[in-house]
Amino acid sequence: MKFEKLKFATLNSDEMLKRSSHYWEKLKSRRSVREFSSESIPLKVIKNIVSSASSAPSGANKQPWKFCIVKDPKLKKKIRVAAEFEEKENYAHRFPEEWLIDLNQFGTDWHKDFLEEAPYLIVLFKQVYDLKGSKQTKNYYVNESVGIAAGFLLTAIHNAGLIALTHTPSPMGFLEKILKRPKNERAFLLIPVGYPKAGTEVPVLTKKTFNEFAKIY
Ligand SMILES: Cc1cc2nc3c(=O)[nH]c(=O)nc-3n(C[C@H](O)[C@H](O)[C@H](O)COP(=O)(O)O)c2cc1C
Repeated sequence: MKFEKLKFATLNSDEMLKRSSHYWEKLKSRRSVREFSSESIPLKVIKNIVSSASSAPSGANKQPWKFCIVKDPKLKKKIRVAAEFEEKENYAHRFPEEWLIDLNQFGTDWHKDFLEEAPYLIVLFKQVYDLKGSKQTKNYYVNESVGIAAGFLLTAIHNAGLIALTHTPSPMGFLEKILKRPKNERAFLLIPVGYPKAGTEVPVLTKKTFNEFAKIY
């Protein structure tokens, strides 16, 4: 293994305070949005966003993820039809009562118009093992690694002035079939990206306070 000098610039505490509070302010305005306009976005922006996500740390640097960027309307339609099929089942039979009550506040149901309306769907797959030709090798901390990359992705989308929904129309095996993914990949998240429809509203939610979500020792 070769080593290189770390690129690092020390900030003074005023600058750190300013930057950390600006960043917090910025992240606080991120919301999950379920109504998308069909306005287009340059592909280069999406590529930058996905590249930011793929800079995430991962167990033994295995980078056990694949970001499939879907802009083809025919594929988006196929994904919507398959997702709505699963969500119809979820809402009708599979979600337990408690889950349905928890979902009530979001006003969601099985309709997923946004899967066709959003200009891009980013389908994030986890690679449960690595596959080079027919050779299988191990990946480590796959869920943790892909979860962190997903977080990077959502903040990069927000930073670019776009909106997204973290969507999980489970079971998501249909995404592996429609996008013809190799056998080591499992769908992790389905994330439409774009602009909100004019006049879009989001549910009023309460977030935990600092003392609820953190403890200083
Ligand atoms: C792992 C995960 C799965 C989610 N799945 C769905 C989903 O399938 N459909 C949906 O409408 N929202 C989904 N959400 C969005 C959450 O409902 C949303 O993040 C939460 O209500 C907080 O709202 P906010 O993102 O606006 O802060 C999911 C979020 C996460 C993190």
